[in-house]
Amino acid sequence: MANLSVNIAGVEFKNPVIPASGTFGNGREYEKFYPLHLLGGISVKGMTLNPKDGNPPPRIAETPAGMLNSVGLQNPGVDYFIQNELPNLENKGTVIIANVAGSTVEDCITIAQKLDDTCVDMLELNISCPNVKEGGVAFGVSCQSAAGITQAVRKATKKPLMVKLSPNVTDIASIARAVEDAGADAVSLINTVLGMRIDIKNRRPILKNNMGGLSGPAVFPVAVRMVWQVANAVNIPVVGMGGISKWEDAVEMMMAGATAVQVGAAIFSNPYCPVEIIDGLNNYLDDSHIADVNELIGCVKPW
Ligand code: FUM
Repeated sequence: MANLSVNIAGVEFKNPVIPASGTFGNGREYEKFYPLHLLGGISVKGMTLNPKDGNPPPRIAETPAGMLNSVGLQNPGVDYFIQNELPNLENKGTVIIANVAGSTVEDCITIAQKLDDTCVDMLELNISCPNVKEGGVAFGVSCQSAAGITQAVRKATKKPLMVKLSPNVTDIASIARAVEDAGADAVSLINTVLGMRIDIKNRRPILKNNMGGLSGPAVFPVAVRMVWQVANAVNIPVVGMGGISKWEDAVEMMMAGATAVQVGAAIFSNPYCPVEIIDGLNNYLDDSHIADVNELIGCVKPW
């Protein structure tokens, strides 16, 4: 059996497959399907400083080969997470990644400080949510703001810091370099692609928020392209996500330069998707006589 373990910023993942933030809650619903220790890690739902109701419905729309969401970071807040959700995740034998999605730099600092004395293994600073008026992608669209918030959170925590990037920018490699220079230990990408659908009967957007984030297989080639660009621009690990739904996608994403992958929208239609990807990856490595999954990282040979 091949080695499946990867290391990101000093954190050891038993395999490179991680359910993406916002698609796995805090793991409770999925424990009914399989033990969480099978997973490389879990990125929990983005947390704000105070509880947040999110955006008004409708906030989900179907699209060809994907979905739009405008959830708006609904969550019970960091204190609730620490008191009521984290104890259930602790000792589950998988890496716990806390997705930090504060509305302001100060909120993100406070959230990071609160998480610093917990058993969370790593922070994922979310500067890429397209569905909120304050914070979110507003932090992630310029090198200056992305670097500013990264630097501030870096100072506030001893935990390894991964920064989650938006595809809704002109030059994602520059943003990645900016957060690397500001102290990020890793980057994850891509968050959702800003999109819109219209109900032609009432001539209104389907989403009450008008626009939302596109995820699912439709965005996969965009994600592969951006992961490849970023992996060639930075010296820190890249975690790839966006439309991964099968083990072949995970292999492709790792060949583009990802050290690990996150699986998102696919979980909604197939909760077993992450464990099926782990099995498929394992079989692929054995069948290909590849002893170590790390050999895949960035092995694509561009023409
Ligand atoms: O709307 C949302 O809760 C989405 C969050 C994200 O894309 O980071």
